[in-house]
Amino acid sequence: MSEIALHLDSVSKDFGRIIALRGINLDVQPGEFVSILGRNGAGKTTLLNIISGISTPSEGEVLLFGTDPAASSNKSKLAVISHEMFLYSNLTAVENLEYYTQMYRVEGMEDKISSVLETVELTHRRFDLVSTFSRGMMQRLTIARALLHDPQFLLLDEPFTGLDQHAIAMLTTILKGQKAQGRTILLTTHDLHIANDLSDRFVVIDKHRVVYDAAVGALGVDELRSRFFSAEGAQS
Ligand SMILES: Nc1ncnc2c1ncn2[C@@H]1O[C@H](COP(=O)(O)OP(=O)(O)O)[C@@H](O)[C@H]1O
Ligand SMILES: [Mg+2]
Repeated sequence: MSEIALHLDSVSKDFGRIIALRGINLDVQPGEFVSILGRNGAGKTTLLNIISGISTPSEGEVLLFGTDPAASSNKSKLAVISHEMFLYSNLTAVENLEYYTQMYRVEGMEDKISSVLETVELTHRRFDLVSTFSRGMMQRLTIARALLHDPQFLLLDEPFTGLDQHAIAMLTTILKGQKAQGRTILLTTHDLHIANDLSDRFVVIDKHRVVYDAAVGALGVDELRSRFFSAEGAQS
């Protein structure tokens, strides 16, 4: 059995004539926290979709825990948080979580649901329909859902976008807790300061290729910004 959490070898992805990724090589060790940075359209979401098995590469190889990302053995190991929230607005918060605990056959469902709702500070709204939630609350519920089955690998696409300061701090604490428990985490973000605070390693994707891959601290936030994000269309 492979020890490595994630292995990408020369991964490319095209959508017809549109290039999304070119020759991506990336290895992630268990317990590592990697932030993927890059401008809009760089290919970050495509990369995450390939890692989660939603999308397949046009070329190259992807191994998640030594096997095809879409393999059934990976379903219980992986959590994905993206902008596709997949919540049922006509169900309550608790009902949404119950639905997922049944899918993942989570042990001790009641306790687990209470615990994740507490973590994202939605206990007081647990019996309310999701249709009455603000966008930020829905996002917190998707975070709660992602934690339900104790995933080993967390894949987060711009998870801080749309959250207020308090929710950002909450998610930061959650991710630090997950990291402390040895979970492997890969996230995309626009926020270099948050990434710098949380991650072990930065990977910058520019024009569909990896242009930088190094431990956090090798370059400071300001230097990273001026090297990769200073030109027109830059993100902070
Ligand atoms: N389903 C799709 N069909 C066609 N083009 C796509 C699709 N998904 C992404 N792309 C294109 O691939 C490139 C990379 O997109 P994306 O991975 O979303 O970048 P990022 O997340 O870094 O902003 C962009 O040019 C985008 O328009
Ligand atoms: Mg994206």
